[in-house]
Amino acid sequence: MSKLNEILSRKLEQAHIKGSFRQLKHNSSLFDFCSNDYLGLASNQYLEDRSRTILKKLSHIYYGSGGSRLISGHHSFIDELEQLIADTHESEASLVFNSGYNANMSVLSSIPQKGDVILYDELCHASIKDGMRLSFADRYSFQHNDTQELKSKLQKFAQKQCYVVIESVYSMDGDLAPIKTISDLCEQFQAILIVDEAHSTGTFGKDGSGITCDLGLAKHIPIRIHTYGKALGCHGASVVGSNILKNYLINFSRQFIYTTALPLHSYTNIYAAYEYLKDHYKELQQTLNTKQRLFSSNMLHNKDIICQSPIVSIIIGGNEETKTKAKSLQDQGFDVRAILSPTVPLGKERLRVCLHVFNTDESIIQLAKLISQ
Ligand SMILES: Cc1ncc(COP(=O)(O)O)c(C=O)c1O
Repeated sequence: MSKLNEILSRKLEQAHIKGSFRQLKHNSSLFDFCSNDYLGLASNQYLEDRSRTILKKLSHIYYGSGGSRLISGHHSFIDELEQLIADTHESEASLVFNSGYNANMSVLSSIPQKGDVILYDELCHASIKDGMRLSFADRYSFQHNDTQELKSKLQKFAQKQCYVVIESVYSMDGDLAPIKTISDLCEQFQAILIVDEAHSTGTFGKDGSGITCDLGLAKHIPIRIHTYGKALGCHGASVVGSNILKNYLINFSRQFIYTTALPLHSYTNIYAAYEYLKDHYKELQQTLNTKQRLFSSNMLHNKDIICQSPIVSIIIGGNEETKTKAKSLQDQGFDVRAILSPTVPLGKERLRVCLHVFNTDESIIQLAKLISQ
């Protein structure tokens, strides 16, 4: 065995021992209860046609963008899209990134400076944590949704410039952040609030604008991240906020400057999804809410299960136990995935059920009953 393979095999062996070895698999014949395509837009024929039509009208059609946004990867259409995004999310400006991972890395690594403090919910996504690692600011977590602990940390660091990072819908637990309380605290302590709306984009708010707009808080939250690989069914992400924020990121975000821009068709896909939501967000969100209620009302012995969003988390505990449970559901036709440690904390390994507008009522009832057993 080569030296490299020897080194890598040791780590892989450890993952096997912990039961956390990851493997790629596709279960296309099963009922989808695992994707983030909550509104079914990823396979919406109208969107595909509309995106193609817009693309055909643009004068330059490239298969790829050929360079970064600052070199050859920009196009006037992207300006138009970014204005549409800004308007939808009630902000001055927006900047599209290649993914939500990149957008979070960008914000967290480039904005907080040495001497600043980042306070983040312990359940924040890996992209937020990875972004903070690249920052020279100090960082401290607070317990999930614990506004008292956040307040005492804001008091403790009152002399510093603090940034607070939360998600509007937590990706692994599916519960919501107390955004209003956190936003008020940030205003009280002049901290800057960053809200990752990855899982509420499309699924909440007028035109799918997300939870902060839905709560009327858009003007109070200076930095928001919206992603397009989930309910919008395509790919990419945007950071929304002021024109100054946009210019800052264009100038100082390494994740924006040093990467090839998305191909033009990715931008037309995002545009088509926003356009579609303007006409259809109400019926889609209502259907999704009905499916959520149907699932929770059939979770017979699990009345404490939270169903605040399309993500429902059922804690099993233990990597092996959770994998066994997921495998049993898959064998019965349901594509439910096990989320293992270290992705979630040890002991909190779980089934992560994602509900969609296209899940049939029968399949939802059957799955809820199987899990309840
Ligand atoms: C809360 C949250 N933020 C950011 C991301 C990353 O988004 P993307 O998949 O577009 O890279 C994810 C994806 O899982 C997420 O759940």
